[in-house]
Amino acid sequence: MTASIHEDVERVILTEERIRERVAELGAAISADYGDEPVLLIAVLRGAALFVADLARTISSPVEIDFMAVSSYGSSTKSSGVVRILKDLDEGIEGRHVLVVEDILDTGLTLKYLLKNLASRKPRSLEVVTLLSKQGKQRVPIDCKYVGFDVPDEFVVGYGLDYDERYRNLPYIGVLKPEVYTDQPPSVGTSAQGDGYS
Ligand code: IMP
Repeated sequence: MTASIHEDVERVILTEERIRERVAELGAAISADYGDEPVLLIAVLRGAALFVADLARTISSPVEIDFMAVSSYGSSTKSSGVVRILKDLDEGIEGRHVLVVEDILDTGLTLKYLLKNLASRKPRSLEVVTLLSKQGKQRVPIDCKYVGFDVPDEFVVGYGLDYDERYRNLPYIGVLKPEVYTDQPPSVGTSAQGDGYS
């Protein structure tokens, strides 16, 4: 059954099926790399919640899951790179294989902070899997071992990604109609992170 497209969505850029296929490929690559070694998936709330749930089920290595929530200081629409931890990990990561699970890599500023913070806790290894990476947007180089899709520099929603906390439950990833944005579309140089969890 094909779900109908939400009336606020202008176009779908990644279908549910395409996402499912790619997530399985990422899971297979991760399983091949870690083998029988336990890996701790650290999902960044809230956007990566759906991705980590699906990804974890495609990994054959022993998996544990923990969550972190961060928010940018400063303006509600510009990613400032100054990050506040709203929810920290429940357990220590020293000596463990850690894989950070992100929904989308935009400027890279949030992840840069997060990786520096996590590295100081002395994990055995520290890698990143991101479902999406915005082409040409990274202001800081991030060594991201697993990338699901490169996407154009447009603001996207669905499969965990929100605009103003909406559309996270869309099973596909799409671009909203311009009239949906109350203000400017939060696409150019923004990350739409407010004071809450992203
Ligand atoms: P960065 O610090 O600019 O890389 O910000 C990354 C965060 O901004 C992501 O984890 C998302 O929460 C949010 N973000 C960036 N681009 C988009 C988008 O196109 N749609 C929804 N959220 C986005």
